[in-house]
Amino acid sequence: MAEPTIAPESNPLRQALPRSRAPEPCALVLFGATGDLAHRKLVPALYNLYRGGNLPAECAVVCFGRRDWTDDDLRKEYEKSLAKDGGPDFAQVWPAFAERLVFASGTFDDPESFKNLKAKLEELDRTHGTKGNRIFYLAVSPEFFEQIIGQLGDADLVYDWQQDSPWSRVVIEKPFGHDLESARALSRSTSRVLDESQVYRIDHYLGKETVQNILAFRFGNSIFEPIWNRRHVASVQITVAEEVGMSGGRGAYYDTAGALRDMVQNHMMQLLSLVAMEPPVDLSADAVRSEKVKVLQALPHWKPEDVYRNVVRAQYTAGSIEGEEVPGYLQEKGVPPDSHTAPYVAMRLELNTWRWAGVPFFLRTGKRLPKRATEIAVQFRRPPTELFDIESEDDTAGNQLVLRIQPNEGASLTFAAKIPGSRRRLQEVRMDFRYGTAFAVPPPEAYERLLLDVMLGDPTLFTRTDEVENAWRFITSILDAWELPDAPPPDSYVAGSWGPEAADRLVKADGTKWRRL
Ligand code: BG6
Repeated sequence: MAEPTIAPESNPLRQALPRSRAPEPCALVLFGATGDLAHRKLVPALYNLYRGGNLPAECAVVCFGRRDWTDDDLRKEYEKSLAKDGGPDFAQVWPAFAERLVFASGTFDDPESFKNLKAKLEELDRTHGTKGNRIFYLAVSPEFFEQIIGQLGDADLVYDWQQDSPWSRVVIEKPFGHDLESARALSRSTSRVLDESQVYRIDHYLGKETVQNILAFRFGNSIFEPIWNRRHVASVQITVAEEVGMSGGRGAYYDTAGALRDMVQNHMMQLLSLVAMEPPVDLSADAVRSEKVKVLQALPHWKPEDVYRNVVRAQYTAGSIEGEEVPGYLQEKGVPPDSHTAPYVAMRLELNTWRWAGVPFFLRTGKRLPKRATEIAVQFRRPPTELFDIESEDDTAGNQLVLRIQPNEGASLTFAAKIPGSRRRLQEVRMDFRYGTAFAVPPPEAYERLLLDVMLGDPTLFTRTDEVENAWRFITSILDAWELPDAPPPDSYVAGSWGPEAADRLVKADGTKWRRL
């Protein structure tokens, strides 16, 4: 079998990926291989890993789908979609990658399909040297998770977790449940077939280089940790803003989720845990995740009236983004005109811990906001006495540390400096760090890092069942309050604006403002 044609060293991406261990030979079975995620993210990530010399030479990607395709049909399909961004060496790299792509026809409800899959995997062990190691990637609609896992168990495709080799791992895309009860039910049925150590629940935010850098920033430096607490921090803002609406026919699915389930339960709760957690004893998967889960356990226990006071939900109305007219949420394809699902959520919460008691954490996320930006802003307290006049862009003056997750990945620290001249006036200035400038390479794609970690058997960047359930406990209390007959209906904001006024009032009560992004 041909080796990757690109010398691994020539790809700078490789330097940012974990190389302490090389992945063992394995076959990766992709359920949902003809879907959007596989096309946009998963297969391109596998291709890039291969191109960078990060995949084992003995590997195969088995695409499982309902269609009546041959391996060649599958390869033609992916050749078309990968060639667009495949880079100048696509013609050299593609043929060797294509050899590793095979199709397995079948349906999730048919035990015979899984027997055939087993036979195919055994054949690949012989032809591609995959050594019996298997990854099953569930990039499918969540209603199929249980069924597929059950079939994997019945077809004897999952090994005893206590054996070192060969191994089997199952990757589950989000959402893991749609509330606390369904997440628990899914955990129960998963655990009938799989041990927790075999389950890799994806939250692709954890694969982002800048998200991983939150830990490095906090615990790899000595100057931030002593001030990272209620004595010095006035408030924290976490923003995940997006320009996109319901493009690509997403409306019908999205309307069953809304921003709270789609972004807050997973991505934002992960950002919050990384910002607020205590230092772990080491960087092992369980040490890190055990500290994160404590943050989620310290989330408030809200009654409905607390939810109405602390959480704002809203839908966008028609507006324009970068000069383009866009419809309102209720006019989007697939969204029922009387829907109460909110594509915007803002909230104020406090964590019940010694480190953070009394410090407001403000979270906001929304679709059809003016731009795509994810950042965490830590606002420090003002100096105890006001000796100087400070000229600031807004009235939230004081030191502010901003971690820019995307785009313009980096971090900046705002502080006061004296304006030259005879008067004692200060102005805010900024120290800025940019990934692009400091490291001269773009951060690697989150899915590349995550796929490699599954192959390496490192679950650190995957969510453990107790993290998922604690996040759902909090989110479900909000969802339940919104279901009550006297719940206030969603607010509204014009597409292309920064959200509803109610969200501004939420932060104003604490004497602050949302950051202008
Ligand atoms: C997904 C959500 O998990 O994350 C999408 O389902 C959202 O609605 C996406 O657009 C955002 O991801 P990123 O990496 O573009 O910030």
